[in-house]
Amino acid sequence: MEAEPKFELASNRNELRYWRRMKILVTGAAGFIGSNFVRYELGQYADVSVAALDSLTYAGNMENLAGLDGDKRFEFIKADISSPIDMGRVFGAHEFDAIVNFAAETHVDRSLMDASIFIQTNMFGVQNLLDQCRKRGVRRFLQVSTDEVYGSLGAEGKFSEDSPIQPNNPYAATKAAADLLVRAAYKSHGIEAVITRCANNFGPYQFPEKLIPLMIANAVEDKQLPVYGDGMHVRDWIYVEDHCSAVDVVLRKSEPGKIYNIGGNHDVPNIHVVKTILKALDKPESLIRYVADRPGHDRRYAMDSLKLREELGWDTKHTFDTAIAATVRWYLDNRGWWERVRSGEYVKYYESLYGERLKSQ
Ligand code: NAD
Ligand code: DAU
Repeated sequence: MEAEPKFELASNRNELRYWRRMKILVTGAAGFIGSNFVRYELGQYADVSVAALDSLTYAGNMENLAGLDGDKRFEFIKADISSPIDMGRVFGAHEFDAIVNFAAETHVDRSLMDASIFIQTNMFGVQNLLDQCRKRGVRRFLQVSTDEVYGSLGAEGKFSEDSPIQPNNPYAATKAAADLLVRAAYKSHGIEAVITRCANNFGPYQFPEKLIPLMIANAVEDKQLPVYGDGMHVRDWIYVEDHCSAVDVVLRKSEPGKIYNIGGNHDVPNIHVVKTILKALDKPESLIRYVADRPGHDRRYAMDSLKLREELGWDTKHTFDTAIAATVRWYLDNRGWWERVRSGEYVKYYESLYGERLKSQ
């Protein structure tokens, strides 16, 4: 979707004039990356104002935004991005300079159980936001996308922004569809949209259904660690704060119509990650259980983020080793947070996904 830039650049290269005092709508703000991004923006910019929107699904948690209520630059809005009524109300009551859309159903395993809510939020929700941007003349829309839209790599190489879109699971397919809707809104209606596609995140506030927090929580409780297949599937890991700084730089500096890959340059097999966690917690490898593989499981992801580095000057600040140590520490220090979410619906979910798999090993 690359095309002619529409922004007027200030004398300071890449610094856009009207982004000085930005009012940003951050959707999915009570989730893992959204809440980290809200804290990042408020920490970096004195003159930013953040409307944090979330419908509070099982993955949304007001505890993730704790302590921000007293900040005059912050407000929370409970609303559903896939509801035209909710969005009409929200956009009618505020004038946003930019939207950063983190709101999504995000867990691949859940999308394999039932894809309908993924279609609702990840596709209808995105179109709904784009419609509001068009109607209200919002200046910028940033869609937070994923490396999963590219499908799987073979033994060599990395995904570039020109790699074909070949999603292999329902979650990835809905994210790919959203990217195409964003592209169409840019091409057809001139919505000043940009897309970021990031690798696997880890860090504080990640819901313990995803590999790293699940393995930490299970190991702390001396429960079995379910590793899919042979454990040799490769993911490219990035610390959440590095993802936030990348989204921030694209939001403020990118020309419209651009797509940027974001990677951590740390692509390793899952079993290495699991063993690193066990070592950090001083727990035995006998907790590991190899279980039946995830259907359609992508074998390898690795991201080439050269374009983002060269065009916008971004880089990671954290190494995997220091960031995973900090993450393990955070889960040890915040045991109440993950124990509270590992109850109720979570227990049913866990049993339906892992019950048979763990029994049959
Ligand atoms: P998450 O599941 O922790 O958070 C998603 C948030 O969206 C939750 O707070 C949830 O309540 C909210 N939400 C869901 N449906 C909504 C709706 N209809 N209206 C309003 N809010 C809704 O997910 P995350 O890991 O923080 O991911 C955030 C975004 O980043 C997603 O778009 C995801 O596709 C993308 N992403 C994630 C990763 C990763 O490794 N976690 C990597 C690349 C891209
Ligand atoms: O790559 C970016 C994507 O990363 C995001 O777009 C998704 O929202 C996010 O959920 C994540 O998807 P993955 O499927 O890669 O993440 P997950 O943590 O579920 O799994 C990471 C790897 O670990 C994957 O190869 C599957 C494996 N795994 C996962 C779980 C939950 C296991 O072996 N056992 C498990 O119990």
